[in-house]
Amino acid sequence: MCGIVGYLGKRNAYPILIKGLHRLEYRGYDSAGVALINEEGQLSVYKAKGKVSELESFCADKDTRGNIGIAHTRWATHGEPNTVNAHPHYSESERLAIIHNGIIENYAVLKAGLQQEGYTFKSETDTEVLVQLIEYTQLNRHVELKTAVQLALQQVVGAYAIAILDKDHPDTLIAARKGSPLVVGIGEGEYFIASDATPIVEYTDQVIYIDDEEVVKLCTKDGCTKDEGIEIATINNVAKTPEIKRLELSLSQLEKGGYPHFMLKEIFEQPRTLTDSMRGRVNVRQDNIALSGFIDNKERFLNAKRIIITACGTSWHAGLIAMYAIEEFAQIPVEVEYSSEFRYRKPVINKDDVVIAISQSGETADTLAAIQLAKSKGAFIFSICNVVGASIPRVSDSGCYTHVGPEIGVASTKAFTAQVTALTMLALCIGREKGTMSEDKYLSIVRELGQIPDKIERVLEQNARISDFSKTFTYAQNFIYLGRGYNYPVALEGALKLKEISYIHAEGYPAAEMKHGPIALISQEMPVVVVAPHCGTYEKVVSNIQEIKARKGKVIAVVTEGDEIVSKIADYVIEVPQTEESLSPLLTVIPLQLLAYHIAVVKGCDVDQPRNLAKSVTVE
Ligand code: AGP
Repeated sequence: MCGIVGYLGKRNAYPILIKGLHRLEYRGYDSAGVALINEEGQLSVYKAKGKVSELESFCADKDTRGNIGIAHTRWATHGEPNTVNAHPHYSESERLAIIHNGIIENYAVLKAGLQQEGYTFKSETDTEVLVQLIEYTQLNRHVELKTAVQLALQQVVGAYAIAILDKDHPDTLIAARKGSPLVVGIGEGEYFIASDATPIVEYTDQVIYIDDEEVVKLCTKDGCTKDEGIEIATINNVAKTPEIKRLELSLSQLEKGGYPHFMLKEIFEQPRTLTDSMRGRVNVRQDNIALSGFIDNKERFLNAKRIIITACGTSWHAGLIAMYAIEEFAQIPVEVEYSSEFRYRKPVINKDDVVIAISQSGETADTLAAIQLAKSKGAFIFSICNVVGASIPRVSDSGCYTHVGPEIGVASTKAFTAQVTALTMLALCIGREKGTMSEDKYLSIVRELGQIPDKIERVLEQNARISDFSKTFTYAQNFIYLGRGYNYPVALEGALKLKEISYIHAEGYPAAEMKHGPIALISQEMPVVVVAPHCGTYEKVVSNIQEIKARKGKVIAVVTEGDEIVSKIADYVIEVPQTEESLSPLLTVIPLQLLAYHIAVVKGCDVDQPRNLAKSVTVE
């Protein structure tokens, strides 16, 4: 996700825009840019790679006058993070400038059409296609900018929050949204637009939240047909009455979206971030998954004798889940390696091996080194990463970005579920192409993938109840987490979440392993979390729970909605909706994220920045 901000009014726009970008930097920070129209009607665009401070240095000796402008801090989705791909983007005539937060899925088709009309492009972005389409529409339909924006957006498939300037109309700012947030702030004779209210809150508490497929035209002086200077209409030009609301939240609360911590915000973002992650890839209507990284390298996967997955921490847990899925659907042997071990143990690596490297940050030193080793042996490297242009995707042969936006909380949550989703999509693509999974099974899982975001919403509705009973466990010095099959890695992930933010020792085990030693630990003082959805070896897990209860253990169980067996023997029960076994980790991990979060909060721990930890371990 990116951050957009715009200003139109009586003050100098530049300082307001720069301060606004700093407020939005948590949304993305790989490049930044600003577009301004000065008093002489000159439209200037300044852009810099890196953080907003780089843009400020670049603009230090530039003409930054003007009382209208738009600015953008980028989280790259299409095109490397560099100055050319940074926003704002000019139209071909350089009369228009646009900023955009979102993903235009059909940008390639739109771009080809414009190229046939003679348009050329400087960047690799979907955003530049949009501004060219708007200009092309305006010139060919002889309409005002607002109408051209409406007509162009009618052709767009995907998500957008845009703001656009026209140097021939320095008293007008046009914005629109669908699927990405957009807020309008109303001051005294001045207007603001932004991705959220953080850039606006210090100037006004009067805001309008723009709805999907709405276009807003803000203007001062004689720019507007309406005297209050605000026009809102749908992209099909159905007029909407502006609904002005009063902003209640403080700045700090706003940056966290009203949540007390980034981690809780990111846990609750997962329905949307998984939707973003699947956007343009899982097409439920066409019963199909399209992963460009797989399509472009099909033979490598189909001919692979073995797949090696290398990662660290939570990403390693995602890799473990992928092992179950790839072996079940594609019947290719999978080995999951801790990168730190893999890079030093002199592993046997063959040229026809496929190595999948998983990393949220794309900068983990051990995983980077593991990739270099595998590359040196001729293996094909496919990376799953959340940061476009990071070191790991740059050294990989291909890959798949998770597109969940910056994950600020050190404890990984939304990146994990997106990694599992991407790996499941990959396993399904390989299995279908190899013919090693039935069409019925493939279709059933693809359709269920489309249901997962809504099912996560249902799990999140239990947040308050999980918060309540979490308070009873803050005394615990140790936890054990148990799961089987696809949910064994979920047990490991749940244990890691608790360890890293509450500092309570926790271990994850395959549930059947209890009998081989750990059951000696069972006591009333050590809670046992058991992931026991209705799938696979459910009856075996029930027996494991009974063994624990027989020794007076305290059990917290994650079960499928309507469970009537475990819910009678466990001490605490959290229900998740029924789903495919291979997709159950996407639901069963949510209660464990919330459990760890609430226990850590009650213990007064620094949830977003736990002691001794860093968000990206770029050293050995
Ligand atoms: C997860 O909650 C931790 N922050 C940590 O284990 C993390 O998953 C690990 O350091 C790997 O990071 P990466 O995904 O950025 O490579």
